[in-house]
Amino acid sequence: MAETVAITDLPGGVRLITLNRPEKKNALTGAMYDAMREALAEADTSDAVGAVVFAGQPGMFSAGNDLADFMGHAGDGFSNSPALAFIRQLARTRTPMVAAVDGIAVGIGATLCLHCDLVYASPAARLRMPFVELGLVPEAASSYLLPLRVGRLRATELLLLSRPLEADEAQALGLVNAVLPADMLVEQAIAQATKLAALPGGALAASRALIRGDQAQVEAALEAEAKAFDAQLRSHESQERLAAFLNRAKPASA
Ligand code: COA
Repeated sequence: MAETVAITDLPGGVRLITLNRPEKKNALTGAMYDAMREALAEADTSDAVGAVVFAGQPGMFSAGNDLADFMGHAGDGFSNSPALAFIRQLARTRTPMVAAVDGIAVGIGATLCLHCDLVYASPAARLRMPFVELGLVPEAASSYLLPLRVGRLRATELLLLSRPLEADEAQALGLVNAVLPADMLVEQAIAQATKLAALPGGALAASRALIRGDQAQVEAALEAEAKAFDAQLRSHESQERLAAFLNRAKPASA
């Protein structure tokens, strides 16, 4: 079976993390989170890696957490999940991260981008954060980072009403650096990551920390979200919504 996450170290100190589960629209399993978490942690300790690029497959960045996994692990909750372990690592990664988003970016597929230092999108990119619709709550500090970036009212539309964001609007809102043709996207993201990797390390690290602001706030937000997420994951309303997606039926209350 092909690797569901491919890790490739490129010349110029760029580590490319490619999601590769196209048959499920790159929905993320525990094993995929673990592979990404390890790749990030190792990037931070490796002298050879100066920047990371996240990429998906043509037309799909990621459909977010594997919803079957959410169903299966309702009893275990979110607190000990590989998803939360990945999110914690994502938030504290010191290596600059670049996202190349082509097509759908749902749930963590979208919120991951809030942690990236640069984000490039294809015209087909479509970000969506349907946590509440699924009976869940925002994760990955998105309830903190998104209002900070786009204002509370817009964040409310995106996080409570799950309004999709097309590439151009995401760029206008400052969530995406540039919209690029799909066939140039990953190449351009790698080129930008290579530039980051070539900068003087000390100056880069200090400047990046200054730009990103209060790390403790980000971590506090994601821990508070994780508690609420855990409670919601065990709720009837979320289990009903998740089952409805998996069974492709409307929830009884809809
Ligand atoms: N978890 C598990 N499986 C998923 C998935 C997810 N998050 N997203 C897609 N899949 C699976 C589908 O069940 C389907 O599997 P099947 O072929 O065995 O039936 C396959 O991937 C293709 O998905 P499909 O829905 O047919 O593709 P689409 O192009 O019509 O729609 C999406 C793509 C991403 C818009 C749609 O799949 C979707 O809304 N997925 C759920 C996204 C989500 O809510 N993520 C979690 C946020 S917290």
